[in-house]
Order: sequence, then structure tokens, then C-alpha cells
Amino acid sequence: MNQRDHWSSRFGFVLAAAGSAVGLGNLWKFPYITWHNNGGAFVLVYLVCVVIVGLPIMMAEIMIGRKTQESAVPAYRMLGGKGWSLVGILGTLTGFVILGYYTVIAGWTISSFADCLNWSVSGYSLPADGAFGAFLSNAPLQLGLSAAFSIFTVAIVWMGIGGGIERFTRILMPTLFVIMIILVITVFTMPGIGQTFRFLFTPNFKDLPASGILEALGHAFFTLSLGMGAMITYGSYLRKGDSVPRVSFMVVFLDTLIAMLACIVMYTIIFSTPGLQDDIGASTVGMLFITLPKLFYTQMPFGTVVGPLFYLLVGFAALTSTISLLEVLAAYLIDNHGWKRHKAVLTGGLITFISTVFCALSLGAVSGLSSFEIFEGKQGVLSTLDHLASNWLLPIGGLLTTIFAGWMISKKIALEELGLYDAAGHPTIYFKCWRVFIRYLAPAAILVVIIAVIRGVDFS
Ligand code: TRP
Repeated sequence: MNQRDHWSSRFGFVLAAAGSAVGLGNLWKFPYITWHNNGGAFVLVYLVCVVIVGLPIMMAEIMIGRKTQESAVPAYRMLGGKGWSLVGILGTLTGFVILGYYTVIAGWTISSFADCLNWSVSGYSLPADGAFGAFLSNAPLQLGLSAAFSIFTVAIVWMGIGGGIERFTRILMPTLFVIMIILVITVFTMPGIGQTFRFLFTPNFKDLPASGILEALGHAFFTLSLGMGAMITYGSYLRKGDSVPRVSFMVVFLDTLIAMLACIVMYTIIFSTPGLQDDIGASTVGMLFITLPKLFYTQMPFGTVVGPLFYLLVGFAALTSTISLLEVLAAYLIDNHGWKRHKAVLTGGLITFISTVFCALSLGAVSGLSSFEIFEGKQGVLSTLDHLASNWLLPIGGLLTTIFAGWMISKKIALEELGLYDAAGHPTIYFKCWRVFIRYLAPAAILVVIIAVIRGVDFS
């Protein structure tokens, strides 16, 4: 293993890990689940989950990866024995589930990009009512878009860590950030901004359904790429000298910031545009793809340029996430089964694409795949898999991670890897806090939520 590929610098790691974290979870999913759960109280619960559960687990996963220099399955085996490697396997399977449907949504960015390009050249025309529904149920189009996105993902992971993943995220992430800032500045001049802040920051717990609490917890895992070994895998390519707490904090901070900004931008457009709220009501899932074009083409001075550029960047944000998901599968085949990178990437990509096909056809194209309902309100393969992965598999994986990092890994190893000791070698206050969080608070929080939801408790 002495030839293991590495990130070229700490900055490269932060960007790649932030690239994994910042994705459709922030730009597409967070705004629509927050809308669904009536804002305020949901946002607050989510932020609490990020601090109590997200940050400590982020540190734990990166630490496990960096310590072992192995991806999830062998990393767990090395530190905890054969039984624990099952947690890595569960994580790898979860990654497979997520990548399958994530690719479908990611494919939509290609079509929005093309639409915007077209509008920029030949003028904006308001899409007809129901246009988005027709788009979703168009089988050849959905399959084509997902196939294109899978190919991009496979191509980059094929090129490896430094030469593929890092090289791309280094350009993509800063550009995404700049565009986001431009959008935020634009919406601050719109009339709906006050209502947006009231919606997001005045918690009213009566509005929050019990299932919303599990959803907030699950989303904290999803958006931070935690609970399935992705950060273990990325951490395994981190050099020894880099500070784990510092990079963890930066990734968590950037991810949360982008999610909040995305809500501010989207809600302000919705609150400022008469009639838009009704359109959205019919398809909250499409918020990112329905609301923003109106902003670009009717409100923004340079909207014709920013419009296409924005969807290009959403696509890139999604791409830096899909590559992290595929990297987990590939790293498993490489580290655990000794496969060559190219064979592992191609096989992982192809197997996942089978699941993608089912998801792509579950948006109305094939009614048998689109209309069944296992989880309340989640219809069809895509929504069911999303609910299963983010609300159940990730929190369970995360719970096992806290137990592993807090109770199985010795204090000495954790202290060494996290580097949180003073000149005399004594643990700092930060280390003590981390230990309390990872051993007690985080697992307790996850357990309470999971048990409460299983027993059907209504928190409101
Ligand atoms: N965090 C990404 C997003 O918000 C999605 C993602 C990438 C992910 N890698 C992951 C989710 C690993 C869970 C686990 O879009």
C-alpha cells in the first residue's frame, strides 16, 4: 500500500470533501424538504443535528480513514476486526443505493442547462403548465440524461484521486461559491426577502411533523456525506500532517452555508413571484429546476449569462458528489479485492446504472415503478430508495460509526489522530468535548429519534 494516491495538499482535500458534501443535497433536496416541513423549526432541528451529530462524526470518519489509509471495509476490519467490517459493507451498499437515484436527478441539470442556453440565445418563454411533469415521465430523455451523467462520473473516477477528483473540484467548487454569492446579492433586492427570513428563522414547533425530525437527522447525514464511509475513504487519501478537526470544521461549515444560501435564493424568488407558489406546490421536487429560470430571465441584469452558468455549476456540484459515491464502491473493490482501478470503476459504474434505470423510469414513465407507496407520501422507486437510504440506512450507519469511534477505538489513538493535545501531551478541551459527543450525545440523539419514529411518537 505504499503507493497509495494522495491529495496534493490540505486545501485539495478540503475542496474534494466539500465537493462531496455540497451537492444536490444542498441545492435540490434541502430547499424542498425544508419547504415541506414548514421552515423554522425544521431548520433549527437540522442545525442542532449538524452540530451534535454531524461534526463529531465527520471528525471520526476522517480520522478512521487517515489512521488506516484504507477505505471503509478494510479500515473497520483493521481497527475493529471482522465483525465491524460489516458496517463498512452496509455503508458500501448504501452508497450504491444513493448513487443509483442521485444520478437521475443529476441528469436533470444537463437538461436545465440546455434549456437555459436555448433561452439565452432565442429569448425566454414561460414553460407551459405541467411541462415539468411531462419531462419527468419522458422515458428516453430520462434514461439518456442519466446515462450521460454516469459516463462523466466514471470518467473522472477512472483518472484517480489527484489527477481526476482533486483536479476538477479545485476549479469547480470556488466557481460555484462565487455564483452563489451573486445570486444572493440579486435576491436581496427582491420584495420576498423579508418573508424568506421569517419562514426560515422563526421556529414554530407546531408546524413540524414528527417524521420531520427524522428527516432533519437523516438529511444531516446525507448532505455531509456521512454514515456510509465516504469520508473514511476520502480521509484515507489524506496525508499525516493535516489537522483532522480543522478540515472537518471547514467542510461542515461550507456545506451548511451553501444549503442556507440556496434556500434564501429559492424562497425569495418564490415569495416575490405571484403564482409561483402554486406551481411549486404541485412539484416541490422540481423547485430547483422550476423557480430559478424565472429569476434569471426576468429579474437579473446578467441573467442570460448567469442562467446557463448556474446549471452548469449545479451539475458540477452533483458531479463532485457522484464521484465520491462511486469512489467508495471502487475503493472497496480495489482495497478489499485487489482489483485494478479501471476495472473497479467500470464495474461499479455499470452495476449502479442498472439501479439508475429503474429510478429513471419511476417518475411517471412506467406506472408500476412510479406509483407504489411503501413509506407514506413517497411514491415510486426513486423516492422510496431516497427515503430508505437517507432516513434509515445513513442514520443507522452513523450510529454504528459513533459506537465504533467512541467505544472501540482507544482514546490514545483518537487523541493522536485528531492532534488535540497541548504541549504537555494532555487532551485539550476540544478533545474532551468530542469524546462526550461521540460517546454519548450523538448516539443518544440518533437512538432517540429512531426509536421515537419506530414507535410512532408524535412530537408536535
Ligand atoms: N452529500 C452529497 C449531497 O449533499 C451527496 C453524497 C455524496 C452523499 N456522497 C455521499 C450522501 C455519501 C451520503 C453519503 O448532495
